[in-house]
Amino acid sequence: MDNRAIGVFDSGLGGLTAAQELAYLMPDEHIIYLGDSYNMPYGEKSRNEIIEMSRSDLHFLLNKDVKAVFVACGTATSNALDILAEESPVPIFGVVEPAVREAVSSTGNGRIGLLATRASVKAGTYERLISRLSPELSVTTRACPKFATMVEDGIFDKNDERVREAVLEYLPPLKLAGVDTVILGCTHYPLLADVISEYMGSDVKLISAGAAAARSLCAYLKENAMTSGKKGSKTEYYTTGQTGCFAYTAKLMLKRDISAELTGIEPFDKGGNI
Ligand code: DGL
Repeated sequence: MDNRAIGVFDSGLGGLTAAQELAYLMPDEHIIYLGDSYNMPYGEKSRNEIIEMSRSDLHFLLNKDVKAVFVACGTATSNALDILAEESPVPIFGVVEPAVREAVSSTGNGRIGLLATRASVKAGTYERLISRLSPELSVTTRACPKFATMVEDGIFDKNDERVREAVLEYLPPLKLAGVDTVILGCTHYPLLADVISEYMGSDVKLISAGAAAARSLCAYLKENAMTSGKKGSKTEYYTTGQTGCFAYTAKLMLKRDISAELTGIEPFDKGGNI
Protein backbone atom coordinates (compact mmCIF):
# COMPACT_ATOMS: atom_id res chain seq x y z
CA MET A 1 0.00 0.00 0.00
CA ASP A 2 1.31 3.46 -0.87
CA ASN A 3 -0.78 6.54 -0.18
CA ARG A 4 1.40 8.95 -2.10
CA ALA A 5 0.01 10.57 -5.27
CA ILE A 6 0.54 9.53 -8.87
CA GLY A 7 2.15 12.33 -10.89
CA VAL A 8 0.86 12.83 -14.44
CA PHE A 9 2.20 15.28 -17.00
CA ASP A 10 1.56 16.39 -20.54
CA SER A 11 2.44 19.42 -22.63
CA GLY A 12 -1.04 20.73 -21.90
CA LEU A 13 -4.58 19.45 -21.55
CA GLY A 14 -4.34 16.30 -23.67
CA GLY A 15 -3.04 14.20 -20.80
CA LEU A 16 -6.38 14.75 -19.07
CA THR A 17 -7.75 11.99 -21.34
CA ALA A 18 -5.24 9.64 -19.67
CA ALA A 19 -5.68 11.04 -16.15
CA GLN A 20 -9.44 10.72 -16.47
CA GLU A 21 -9.14 7.03 -17.37
CA LEU A 22 -6.73 6.51 -14.49
CA ALA A 23 -9.10 8.19 -12.02
CA TYR A 24 -11.95 6.03 -13.34
CA LEU A 25 -9.94 2.81 -12.93
CA MET A 26 -8.45 3.78 -9.59
CA PRO A 27 -11.05 5.86 -7.77
CA ASP A 28 -9.06 6.01 -4.54
CA GLU A 29 -5.87 7.46 -5.98
CA HIS A 30 -4.62 10.99 -5.47
CA ILE A 31 -3.49 12.36 -8.85
CA ILE A 32 -1.29 15.41 -9.38
CA TYR A 33 -1.62 16.65 -12.95
CA LEU A 34 0.81 19.04 -14.59
CA GLY A 35 0.09 20.62 -17.98
CA ASP A 36 3.07 22.50 -19.38
CA SER A 37 0.73 24.69 -21.44
CA TYR A 38 3.25 27.52 -21.60
CA ASN A 39 5.55 25.35 -23.73
CA MET A 40 2.86 23.58 -25.74
CA PRO A 41 3.07 22.25 -28.50
CA TYR A 42 5.88 19.81 -27.71
CA GLY A 43 5.22 18.22 -31.08
CA GLU A 44 6.83 21.15 -32.88
CA LYS A 45 9.97 21.23 -30.69
CA SER A 46 13.36 19.60 -31.18
CA ARG A 47 14.27 16.39 -29.37
CA ASN A 48 16.64 18.25 -27.05
CA GLU A 49 13.99 20.80 -26.14
CA ILE A 50 11.48 18.02 -25.47
CA ILE A 51 14.00 16.27 -23.20
CA GLU A 52 14.64 19.47 -21.23
CA MET A 53 10.95 20.36 -20.84
CA SER A 54 10.04 16.80 -19.87
CA ARG A 55 12.85 16.77 -17.34
CA SER A 56 11.43 19.91 -15.69
CA ASP A 57 7.96 18.33 -15.65
CA LEU A 58 9.35 15.18 -14.04
CA HIS A 59 11.24 17.11 -11.40
CA PHE A 60 8.21 19.24 -10.55
CA LEU A 61 6.26 16.05 -9.83
CA LEU A 62 9.12 14.40 -7.94
CA ASN A 63 9.22 17.42 -5.67
CA LYS A 64 5.57 16.65 -4.85
CA ASP A 65 6.67 13.26 -3.48
CA VAL A 66 4.79 11.10 -6.00
CA LYS A 67 5.03 7.30 -5.98
CA ALA A 68 5.00 6.97 -9.78
CA VAL A 69 5.11 9.25 -12.80
CA PHE A 70 2.83 8.85 -15.80
CA VAL A 71 4.14 10.57 -18.92
CA ALA A 72 0.71 11.20 -20.49
CA CYS A 73 2.24 12.60 -23.65
CA GLY A 74 3.15 10.65 -26.77
CA THR A 75 5.74 13.22 -27.77
CA ALA A 76 7.57 13.21 -24.42
CA THR A 77 7.38 9.41 -24.27
CA SER A 78 8.71 8.99 -27.81
CA ASN A 79 11.59 11.39 -27.33
CA ALA A 80 12.53 11.33 -23.65
CA LEU A 81 11.17 8.34 -21.72
CA ASP A 82 14.49 6.42 -21.64
CA ILE A 83 16.34 9.44 -20.31
CA LEU A 84 13.67 10.29 -17.74
CA ALA A 85 13.61 6.67 -16.55
CA GLU A 86 17.35 6.85 -15.79
CA GLU A 87 16.79 9.96 -13.68
CA SER A 88 13.62 8.96 -11.88
CA PRO A 89 13.83 7.34 -8.46
CA VAL A 90 10.19 6.21 -8.80
CA PRO A 91 8.69 4.03 -11.57
CA ILE A 92 7.87 5.99 -14.71
CA PHE A 93 5.39 5.02 -17.42
CA GLY A 94 4.89 6.27 -20.94
CA VAL A 95 2.08 5.83 -23.44
CA VAL A 96 3.84 4.24 -26.43
CA GLU A 97 4.32 0.64 -25.36
CA PRO A 98 0.80 0.03 -23.96
CA ALA A 99 -0.77 1.55 -27.09
CA VAL A 100 1.41 -0.52 -29.40
CA ARG A 101 0.64 -3.74 -27.50
CA GLU A 102 -3.11 -3.09 -27.78
CA ALA A 103 -2.85 -2.25 -31.48
CA VAL A 104 -0.77 -5.32 -32.29
CA SER A 105 -3.25 -7.62 -30.60
CA SER A 106 -6.26 -5.82 -32.05
CA THR A 107 -5.41 -5.77 -35.75
CA GLY A 108 -7.02 -8.48 -37.84
CA ASN A 109 -5.67 -7.54 -41.28
CA GLY A 110 -2.15 -6.60 -40.15
CA ARG A 111 -2.49 -2.92 -41.14
CA ILE A 112 -2.14 -0.33 -38.42
CA GLY A 113 -2.49 3.44 -38.73
CA LEU A 114 -0.63 5.83 -36.46
CA LEU A 115 -1.63 9.46 -35.88
CA ALA A 116 0.84 11.46 -33.80
CA THR A 117 2.68 14.75 -33.52
CA ARG A 118 5.51 15.70 -35.84
CA ALA A 119 8.14 15.12 -33.14
CA SER A 120 6.72 11.67 -32.30
CA VAL A 121 6.70 10.67 -35.96
CA LYS A 122 10.27 11.92 -36.35
CA ALA A 123 11.40 9.91 -33.30
CA GLY A 124 9.93 6.72 -34.83
CA THR A 125 9.42 5.10 -31.41
CA TYR A 126 5.93 3.73 -32.13
CA GLU A 127 6.99 2.16 -35.43
CA ARG A 128 10.17 0.64 -33.97
CA LEU A 129 8.23 -1.05 -31.22
CA ILE A 130 5.56 -2.34 -33.60
CA SER A 131 8.18 -3.84 -35.87
CA ARG A 132 10.01 -5.37 -32.88
CA LEU A 133 6.82 -7.03 -31.63
CA SER A 134 5.38 -8.01 -35.04
CA PRO A 135 7.71 -7.33 -37.98
CA GLU A 136 5.10 -8.51 -40.50
CA LEU A 137 2.66 -5.68 -39.70
CA SER A 138 2.43 -2.63 -41.93
CA VAL A 139 2.17 0.82 -40.39
CA THR A 140 0.85 3.93 -42.11
CA THR A 141 1.87 7.02 -40.18
CA ARG A 142 0.60 10.58 -40.36
CA ALA A 143 1.83 13.60 -38.42
CA CYS A 144 -1.11 15.86 -37.56
CA PRO A 145 0.40 19.15 -36.35
CA LYS A 146 -2.92 21.03 -36.24
CA PHE A 147 -4.81 18.53 -34.08
CA ALA A 148 -3.23 19.14 -30.65
CA THR A 149 -3.33 22.93 -30.84
CA MET A 150 -6.96 22.86 -31.99
CA VAL A 151 -7.91 20.70 -29.02
CA GLU A 152 -5.87 22.90 -26.68
CA ASP A 153 -7.87 25.87 -28.00
CA GLY A 154 -11.14 24.07 -27.28
CA ILE A 155 -11.83 23.32 -30.96
CA PHE A 156 -12.92 19.68 -31.11
CA ASP A 157 -16.61 19.70 -31.98
CA LYS A 158 -17.07 17.23 -34.83
CA ASN A 159 -19.25 19.68 -36.73
CA ASP A 160 -16.66 22.45 -36.61
CA GLU A 161 -15.45 23.14 -40.15
CA ARG A 162 -11.81 23.53 -39.01
CA VAL A 163 -11.90 20.09 -37.42
CA ARG A 164 -13.43 18.46 -40.51
CA GLU A 165 -10.89 20.15 -42.79
CA ALA A 166 -7.97 18.93 -40.68
CA VAL A 167 -9.34 15.39 -40.74
CA LEU A 168 -9.56 15.52 -44.54
CA GLU A 169 -6.01 16.84 -44.67
CA TYR A 170 -4.46 14.07 -42.54
CA LEU A 171 -6.52 10.90 -42.71
CA PRO A 172 -6.93 9.86 -46.39
CA PRO A 173 -3.64 7.86 -46.52
CA LEU A 174 -4.85 5.69 -43.61
CA LYS A 175 -8.11 4.97 -45.38
CA LEU A 176 -6.30 4.21 -48.65
CA ALA A 177 -4.01 1.79 -46.82
CA GLY A 178 -7.06 -0.07 -45.47
CA VAL A 179 -5.96 0.01 -41.82
CA ASP A 180 -8.30 -1.70 -39.36
CA THR A 181 -6.72 -0.20 -36.23
CA VAL A 182 -5.60 3.38 -35.58
CA ILE A 183 -3.37 4.42 -32.70
CA LEU A 184 -4.25 7.90 -31.44
CA GLY A 185 -0.62 8.45 -30.55
CA CYS A 186 -1.04 11.89 -29.01
CA THR A 187 -3.11 12.26 -25.87
CA HIS A 188 -4.98 15.26 -27.30
CA TYR A 189 -6.47 13.18 -30.13
CA PRO A 190 -9.18 11.22 -28.24
CA LEU A 191 -11.12 14.49 -28.16
CA LEU A 192 -11.34 14.11 -31.95
CA ALA A 193 -12.26 10.41 -31.81
CA ASP A 194 -15.85 10.98 -33.01
CA VAL A 195 -14.87 12.79 -36.16
CA ILE A 196 -11.94 10.43 -36.85
CA SER A 197 -14.21 7.43 -36.41
CA GLU A 198 -16.88 8.94 -38.63
CA TYR A 199 -14.30 9.38 -41.39
CA MET A 200 -12.54 6.01 -40.98
CA GLY A 201 -15.72 3.97 -40.45
CA SER A 202 -17.10 2.29 -37.37
CA ASP A 203 -15.31 -1.01 -38.12
CA VAL A 204 -11.90 0.67 -37.63
CA LYS A 205 -10.75 0.41 -34.03
CA LEU A 206 -9.28 3.53 -32.42
CA ILE A 207 -6.75 3.05 -29.63
CA SER A 208 -6.21 5.93 -27.27
CA ALA A 209 -2.57 5.81 -26.20
CA GLY A 210 -3.32 7.56 -22.89
CA ALA A 211 -6.17 5.25 -21.93
CA ALA A 212 -4.17 2.14 -22.88
CA ALA A 213 -1.31 3.39 -20.69
CA ALA A 214 -3.67 4.14 -17.78
CA ARG A 215 -4.84 0.51 -17.89
CA SER A 216 -1.29 -0.77 -17.84
CA LEU A 217 -0.26 1.60 -15.00
CA CYS A 218 -3.28 0.47 -12.98
CA ALA A 219 -2.26 -3.17 -13.44
CA TYR A 220 1.32 -2.39 -12.38
CA LEU A 221 0.28 -0.59 -9.19
CA LYS A 222 -2.03 -3.45 -8.24
CA GLU A 223 0.56 -6.16 -8.97
CA ASN A 224 3.18 -4.31 -6.94
CA ALA A 225 0.97 -3.52 -3.94
CA MET A 226 1.38 0.20 -4.61
CA THR A 227 -2.28 1.22 -4.57
CA SER A 228 -3.67 3.74 -2.12
CA GLY A 229 -5.17 2.50 1.13
CA LYS A 230 -7.31 5.63 1.49
CA LYS A 231 -10.91 6.01 0.35
CA GLY A 232 -11.89 8.64 -2.18
CA SER A 233 -9.77 10.34 -4.80
CA LYS A 234 -8.74 13.84 -5.61
CA THR A 235 -6.94 15.39 -8.52
CA GLU A 236 -4.83 18.52 -8.21
CA TYR A 237 -4.16 20.46 -11.40
CA TYR A 238 -1.15 22.62 -12.16
CA THR A 239 -0.36 24.51 -15.32
CA THR A 240 2.55 26.62 -16.50
CA GLY A 241 0.10 28.55 -18.69
CA GLN A 242 -2.94 30.65 -17.86
CA THR A 243 -5.02 29.04 -15.16
CA GLY A 244 -8.30 30.50 -16.47
CA CYS A 245 -7.76 29.12 -20.00
CA PHE A 246 -6.66 25.78 -18.59
CA ALA A 247 -9.77 25.49 -16.41
CA TYR A 248 -12.09 26.69 -19.18
CA THR A 249 -10.93 24.14 -21.76
CA ALA A 250 -10.59 21.39 -19.15
CA LYS A 251 -14.27 21.93 -18.36
CA LEU A 252 -15.18 21.51 -22.04
CA MET A 253 -13.20 18.28 -22.09
CA LEU A 254 -14.19 16.76 -18.76
CA LYS A 255 -17.69 18.27 -18.60
CA ARG A 256 -17.15 19.43 -15.03
CA ASP A 257 -15.51 22.32 -13.24
CA ILE A 258 -11.90 22.13 -12.17
CA SER A 259 -9.55 24.77 -10.83
CA ALA A 260 -5.87 24.87 -11.63
CA GLU A 261 -2.92 26.42 -9.87
CA LEU A 262 -0.26 28.30 -11.75
CA THR A 263 3.24 27.01 -11.42
CA GLY A 264 6.52 28.30 -12.68
CA ILE A 265 8.43 25.05 -12.80
CA GLU A 266 11.34 25.18 -10.44
CA PRO A 267 14.62 23.35 -10.78
CA PHE A 268 14.69 19.96 -9.14
CA ASP A 269 15.61 20.18 -5.48
CA LYS A 270 18.00 17.29 -4.93
CA GLY A 271 17.79 17.73 -1.19
CA GLY A 272 14.00 17.44 -1.34
CA ASN A 273 11.67 14.75 -0.26
CA ILE A 274 12.64 11.87 -2.53
N1 DGL B 1 -0.34 15.59 -25.95
C1 DGL B 1 0.94 15.49 -26.56
C2 DGL B 1 1.21 14.09 -27.08
O1 DGL B 1 0.64 13.16 -26.55
C3 DGL B 1 1.44 16.48 -27.53
C4 DGL B 1 0.80 17.71 -27.91
C5 DGL B 1 1.85 18.73 -28.23
O2 DGL B 1 2.25 19.40 -27.28
O3 DGL B 1 2.29 18.82 -29.38
O4 DGL B 1 1.98 13.90 -27.97
